[in-house]
Amino acid sequence: SQTDKELLYKIHEIANGFFQEQLQTEEGRTIGYSYFKERELRDDIISKFQLGYAPEKKDAFTEFAIEKGYSKEILEKSGLSIFPENAPNGIDRFRERVIFPIHSFSGRVLGFGGRILRNNVKTAKYLNSPETEIYHKSQVLYGLNQSKQAISKNNLCLLVEGYMDVIALHQAGIEHVVSSSGTALTVEQIKLIKRLTENVTILFDGDTAGIKASFRSIDMLLSEAMNIRILLFPDGDDPDSFARKHPQEYVENFIKTEATDFIDFKAEILLKEAANDPIRKAEAIRDIVKSVAFVQNALKQEVYLKEVATKFGLSEQSLFNELDVQKQVKK
Ligand code: GTP
Ligand code: MN
Ligand code: MN
Ligand code: MN
Ligand code: MN
Repeated sequence: SQTDKELLYKIHEIANGFFQEQLQTEEGRTIGYSYFKERELRDDIISKFQLGYAPEKKDAFTEFAIEKGYSKEILEKSGLSIFPENAPNGIDRFRERVIFPIHSFSGRVLGFGGRILRNNVKTAKYLNSPETEIYHKSQVLYGLNQSKQAISKNNLCLLVEGYMDVIALHQAGIEHVVSSSGTALTVEQIKLIKRLTENVTILFDGDTAGIKASFRSIDMLLSEAMNIRILLFPDGDDPDSFARKHPQEYVENFIKTEATDFIDFKAEILLKEAANDPIRKAEAIRDIVKSVAFVQNALKQEVYLKEVATKFGLSEQSLFNELDVQKQVKK
């Protein structure tokens, strides 16, 4: 309901202040703040992204919110507290984690991501807010609020995988960047970008997961008539680790010069996999033509198909035939 929504916005604002203040306590300084320092974040960036810390105490936030007069019911609805049978007074969802608030386009806090401080196999690295009346993860892009002006100004949106990638690029002076935070890119998210620009460069992690995610995102973005370029970082780097290794100018240049169109990108990866096997090579070409079938403009489709024909030394006619087949499949 509307009253619930207002309360949920309010409690997220309260929680955001709480987590940021916790970063200043003794525990927060020695654990949370030093974590951010290990990752070489500057203070102005910590403030810009309103980063925080959730303490170890099981009910630190829940108790704070109850004292402020929030009901258990609204705390549960917010996803910030949970009320298991063995702890009827409630415990915090986020404990002993550094906190990344997730903002709406207009800057309201909708939810949080929390990262564990030491990587280990037992605990999920990131914990996010659940879906609530105000947080629908498929409709939110992390960093959009902080990046929207730069996206308009550059007429380009860089798309990365993670929270830290957005933040590290901002720190490197590259501010036209958002993240879908590890989930598959959705049409709603693309429409948010499209309010600002039609140009997207995908900058995913240089690992298998990154390749898979980029293939999916390419087809989604083409379907929404976006112009795309793609770049995977070398040697398993992600934008965060890469940006910390190299000077700003180098990173900017690298993105500009190394990003390729989706044909070259898919061709490079799929052909490497196909090696000299003609069957797999044919599959690779079909896979590329499948992406061309998502291109929303007939003229652009033709230009891309001609590129594929040249690249593989094939006749345009056979590729157009394949394109027709792929379009039928989609119907
Ligand atoms: P860092 O290790 O902090 O640099 O994280 P990363 O962003 O490089 O992590 P990774 O490349 O593994 O994942 C990319 C994004 O996927 C993260 O920023 C998260 O949004 C999300 N993600 C990663 N691990 C988890 C997880 O265990 N649970 C959930 N829900 N999301 C995750
Ligand atoms: Mn990854
Ligand atoms: Mn990563
Ligand atoms: Mn990373
Ligand atoms: Mn090309």
